[in-house]
Amino acid sequence: MLASEKKMADTDRKVHLKILRQDTPASRPYWDEFEVDYSPGMNVISCLMAIQRNPVNRKGERVRPVVWECNCLEEVCGACSMVINGTPRQACSCLVDKVTQPIELRPLSKFPVLRDLMVDRQAMFDAFKKVKAWVEIDGTHDLGPGPQMPQHEQEKLYPLTRCMVCGCCMEACPQYDSLRKPFIGPATLNQAHRFNVDRTGKMTKEERLRAVMEKGGIQDCGNAQNCVRVCPKEIPITDSIAELGRETTKLLLKDIFG
Ligand code: SF4
Ligand code: SF4
Ligand code: FES
Repeated sequence: MLASEKKMADTDRKVHLKILRQDTPASRPYWDEFEVDYSPGMNVISCLMAIQRNPVNRKGERVRPVVWECNCLEEVCGACSMVINGTPRQACSCLVDKVTQPIELRPLSKFPVLRDLMVDRQAMFDAFKKVKAWVEIDGTHDLGPGPQMPQHEQEKLYPLTRCMVCGCCMEACPQYDSLRKPFIGPATLNQAHRFNVDRTGKMTKEERLRAVMEKGGIQDCGNAQNCVRVCPKEIPITDSIAELGRETTKLLLKDIFG
């Protein structure tokens, strides 16, 4: 095909989107369909931006612009997570050319919907707080430099630190549902392990392990492995869960036998 013909063909092309919408946190969801002009290299966020500029649906009705969240536009912040053609992933890294149409967009289903594709992921942050997913400092005086970490240890820890709290693993996990179940979920378990293996984070390892052993903790993981399959950062979540499992068992045995 000549370059001019290709250009012509691209300008004629449309992208068909089917979006599950919700007007308020309490209202019933409904489907709305849109068609936007195709351009090479566009992603789902560009489609949503096109709808925002001209919120007219496929029936020709002018509707409320679709609401969604995004920030970094390079799969770093995790804000644009949604279910695209049945898979939880980031809208900014989802290229239109790589997915089938109509492109079906739904909000993550394990968190409360605020509006359209925007959900409230606070439950994830609350779960992180529950397991103390941080390095303890009191902030009142200089603690001096932290312990040095050898290269091989850094390399082992680094993959675990790539979590962007996007919620995809939580969405895919059959045991996680922030609306109905107490399970703290795979991202939280990974974070607990991540800080337990950190040389400074280790100081509060036992507290973290005890939090992980509470109701809704590690025992609720059914080992379905869905989490690790959808993680866009390829974090070895199930390895973290297995290691946490061994550590919590050791602690339990210590509690029993001293
Ligand atoms: S292994 Fe399965 S049950 Fe456990 S956290 Fe991952 S998806 Fe959920
Ligand atoms: S572990 Fe992976 S899928 Fe889960 S929240 Fe973090 S980055 Fe997202
Ligand atoms: S906008 Fe940040 S991950 Fe998509």
